Amino acid sequence: MNMCVLIVLLGTALFATIEPAQLPSYIPRCYQNDRNINECFISAANSLNENVRSGIPELGLRPLDPFVAPDLNITLESPITDLFVATQRFTFHRFYNYRFTSADIRPKDGAVSGSVTFPDLGASVDYILQGHLINLPIGGAGVAKFKFAAINCDFLIDNWLEKATCGEIKLELTCKIEDVEMNFTGLSNEEMMNRLLNLSSKLVASEVSPAYSNIFKALLRPFLKRLCKKYPLGELFPPSS
Ligand SMILES: *[C@@H]1O[C@H](CO)[C@@H](O)[C@H](O)[C@H]1NC(C)=O
Ligand SMILES: *[C@@H]1O[C@H](CO)[C@@H](O)[C@H](O)[C@H]1NC(C)=O
Ligand SMILES: *[C@@H]1O[C@H](CO)[C@@H](O)[C@H](O)[C@H]1NC(C)=O
Repeated sequence: MNMCVLIVLLGTALFATIEPAQLPSYIPRCYQNDRNINECFISAANSLNENVRSGIPELGLRPLDPFVAPDLNITLESPITDLFVATQRFTFHRFYNYRFTSADIRPKDGAVSGSVTFPDLGASVDYILQGHLINLPIGGAGVAKFKFAAINCDFLIDNWLEKATCGEIKLELTCKIEDVEMNFTGLSNEEMMNRLLNLSSKLVASEVSPAYSNIFKALLRPFLKRLCKKYPLGELFPPSS
């Protein structure tokens, strides 16, 4: 083969891999030199609920409704609970119906922080549960359904700088659940226990908030790593238009 052609071919191949992946055109762009970059991000992110619902492959985001979490076991120890819950197929609905309420975008520091609300998250899960609720033994196995009142989360993502260090991207997430309606089928004393759970729903919601923060963190981390490997933060938020 002609050397010149070879060089051109190699050059194109190299270029294709170096050139940043293209963001879909429906994603609004926010630029670092925009004084209102935070507001820009909030309105951009909040315009994408339906796209997030069906997935955004270019961002490494899989379809989000429903979202099935990995199996996990939760221990709840508090003044009113002493519970061990083994869960399978923790399935969330309406995760895509988020609203960002504040944001602080700092591409140069590789940091993003802010607050996001989930107004109407629902979930169902196969569970095995044993322990005590307000000193009463509680136990059983079956399907549990949840309807959450507003869940408010504060987040901080840090160390989002370059592809090589994406494994060390930092994520802090603290969520507060205001209230939750619960329905456990398969509990012993099912009716009474459900009524009791429901009566203490606000307490239960606040007790389980840290556990849910950890679940959400486990869901978000792999996505953030994938996103970071595709785009350094400074590429998602280019310096100027
Ligand atoms: C959860 O606990 C059950 C019962 O103790 C165990 O069989 C299962 O492997 C645990 N699952 C996880 C994900 O830790
Ligand atoms: C829990 O309470 C809500 C209203 O507060 C009610 O709609 C729901 O049916 C109750 N669920 C159970 C399992 O008792
Ligand atoms: C709880 O769920 C079961 C099964 O889905 C349903 O038959 C029952 O009516 C529900 N109870 C309440 C109070 O919502």
